[in-house]
Amino acid sequence: TPAVSACPFHGSDRARQFDPFGPEYQTDPAAALRWSREQEPVFYSEVLGYWVVSRYDDIKAIFRDNITFSPAIALEKITPPTPESLEVLKSYGFDLRRTLVNEDEPVHMERRRALLDAFAPDAAAAHAPMVRDLVRARVDAMAAKGEADLVQSLLWEVPFLVALHFLGIPAADHDTLRRYAVAHTLNSWGRPTPEQQVGIAHSMGQFWQYADEVLTRMKADPTGRGWMYDMIAANRADPEVVTDNYLHSMMLAVIVAAHETTALAGANMMQRLLADRAAWNELCRTPALIPNAVEECLRHSGSVVAWRRIATRDAAVGGVTIPAGGKILMVVASGNHDPRKFENPDALDLWRDNTAEHLTFGYGSHQCMGKNIGRMELRIILEELTRRLPHMELVPQDFTYLPNTSFRGAERVLVRWDPALNPAPRPE
Ligand code: HEM
Repeated sequence: TPAVSACPFHGSDRARQFDPFGPEYQTDPAAALRWSREQEPVFYSEVLGYWVVSRYDDIKAIFRDNITFSPAIALEKITPPTPESLEVLKSYGFDLRRTLVNEDEPVHMERRRALLDAFAPDAAAAHAPMVRDLVRARVDAMAAKGEADLVQSLLWEVPFLVALHFLGIPAADHDTLRRYAVAHTLNSWGRPTPEQQVGIAHSMGQFWQYADEVLTRMKADPTGRGWMYDMIAANRADPEVVTDNYLHSMMLAVIVAAHETTALAGANMMQRLLADRAAWNELCRTPALIPNAVEECLRHSGSVVAWRRIATRDAAVGGVTIPAGGKILMVVASGNHDPRKFENPDALDLWRDNTAEHLTFGYGSHQCMGKNIGRMELRIILEELTRRLPHMELVPQDFTYLPNTSFRGAERVLVRWDPALNPAPRPE
């Protein structure tokens, strides 16, 4: 890559040793980069082929300037695809193109504006009763059992179904789509083996073809409600801006964007809060703290720990010149623990007043469109769990993570409680 040859490499040993797939970064990416925040806030990682940026202000400055720092590589496979996997994708006619998050201007803003209405605070809030029903049904199903893996019984499934409801995808298609709701993190940000790549390619190809079927049916009866129908209308009104391929690509991309991000955020949130009994008890006593607690968990232990940009010209970041073509890994988890921005950053503080300035949703013109929906889901999950199972506790366990650069969340969060002590639910 151009970055390697252009690299004026006088990086430190720490920079050379940085391993984004190693246990230190996987367990706690912010702690793994403390040395960098302190000594070398912008460094070139040879093993990754990326410039790593670790301080809050530098990351924000990159997010702010999406012309100098293009998001074009945001979803690029960090492990290059094998020729076999590309053949498999081709055999399905797979043609996923750019989808908002990795689009450049001016087309990005044109499309973002055309598709923004469904994300307005009121429109997002209108989904709350549906989210609450989904959460309650799952809490009801586990309340008498006395133990659960919160990921499996609640946190993985709810954001997936919310995403499909939000898009307006008919319920009859949910089970089929669930089969494909796997392995995207591994695919984009992990180290899949060649065999895994082929398996993922089949699954992505089938996902692509099935999305086409669903979309064809939705187009035939465009009276339904949901974001896909907004897109179908935008496609009719302006097929040059919202193209046919765009509808198809967005359907896949948004399911992934809305699902894994929120599911992993929920896992981190529950793990973090239950590990701090005083904080958990305080939330059970004072539900008014829940919205800020959600935000603080997204800051302290967010699900998106790193995001990418590529420099379109030579550009200075934190006193270092990143050459044109240089790829950049912004470790937002590190920015979220930068003491220059957040006082006592490693503490979980439910009252922190600037916690919503975290970078877990990105920043600037590409900032997460679904942030209010994700927040609402996490808030409702916490409201229901603190009301119904305030006595739950973590089972002693080793938390495991799928090794990858960007998405983080425990694969299981095992909890237990005594069902005989389940309280009568507090009124809302
Ligand atoms: C973009 C995180 C939930 C839809 C993004 C970006 C991040 C992110 C980091 C890129 C921001 C940037 O480049 O500045 C998250 C997290 C979530 C979450 C942590 C949950 C806790 C959702 C949900 C939806 C969604 C629920 C949809 C219902 C989108 C879309 C974009 C986006 C459409 C592209 C926006 C653009 O490029 O203009 N998200 N997301 N996200 N997200 Fe989310």
